[in-house]
Amino acid sequence: METWSLISICVLLGLTTRWAVSFSSYSGAGKAPMFGDYEAQRHWQEVTYNLPVKEWYFNTTDNDLGYWGLDYPPLTAYHSLLCAHIAKLIDPAWVELHTSRGYESASHKLFMRTTVLFADIVIYIPAVILFCFYLTDGSSKKKVATALCILLYPGLILIDYGHFQYNSVSLGLALWGVVGLGLGWDLLGSLAFTLALNYKQMELYHSLPFFCYLLGKCIKQGLMGKGLLLLVKISLTVLVTFAFCWWPFLSDPQQILQVLHRLFPVDRGLFEVCPLTRSSDLTCLSFPHVS
Ligand SMILES: *[C@@H]1O[C@H](CO)[C@@H](O)[C@H](O)[C@H]1NC(C)=O
Repeated sequence: METWSLISICVLLGLTTRWAVSFSSYSGAGKAPMFGDYEAQRHWQEVTYNLPVKEWYFNTTDNDLGYWGLDYPPLTAYHSLLCAHIAKLIDPAWVELHTSRGYESASHKLFMRTTVLFADIVIYIPAVILFCFYLTDGSSKKKVATALCILLYPGLILIDYGHFQYNSVSLGLALWGVVGLGLGWDLLGSLAFTLALNYKQMELYHSLPFFCYLLGKCIKQGLMGKGLLLLVKISLTVLVTFAFCWWPFLSDPQQILQVLHRLFPVDRGLFEVCPLTRSSDLTCLSFPHVS
């Protein structure tokens, strides 16, 4: 069979598996008062839609940080805002301030699941295909087999479509970073990885290889010549991307400090918020529970 038909079948298999898993319940369904990550994501839509940016990361009368306070970087918040605008069009009750807490319904679940699938189709799956075709060795058949294995990897499917999270966004952007670097587009790769970092701070796990690879490339080209120019270009790309993502917070140092404090709550310990109801991202990555 032609390679393109094989790869289409892989993608369709991947999509079917994802959608099949999404029919099951999500973690925390029906479990008041905190529910699970599904409610966290829905609550972030409610908060970002109804409150001014300056309040997103602060505890205020309208934003109780004790109840799923926003603790991911700004790109996640913007993504929530985007989803909230669509949610508002379909059913305003889904993102009503305060009264939407713990909102659950079949149509809302369909909406939430669709947002995950959409992000996967737009960001993660194309990166996987490009990675397999341009950056792995071997015959076309082997590349197709690699793509199939990655697209059917159970860990990611169970957490995003069972438990409920958007890891395909951060992992997809990081993979776009790998594709960029692998193809020699260092600036585009740096841009993609910086976006990943600004979507989910867990991408810091992957930052050391990116940093070492890029710095090594600059050193190889000579830090007194071409390498220096590359280093400056990469640094500027990263800085400008960060500035772009953090724009609404940059005018006030208090805002920057508060966002950082929410992202890295050192005083609360790494396994944060409500020990009994929130499985931290670290634990749920190791033990996804689809209940
Ligand atoms: C945060 O705000 C809520 C009300 O929105 C309040 O009940 C809670 O005590 C506040 N928490 C802190 C730590 O100030």
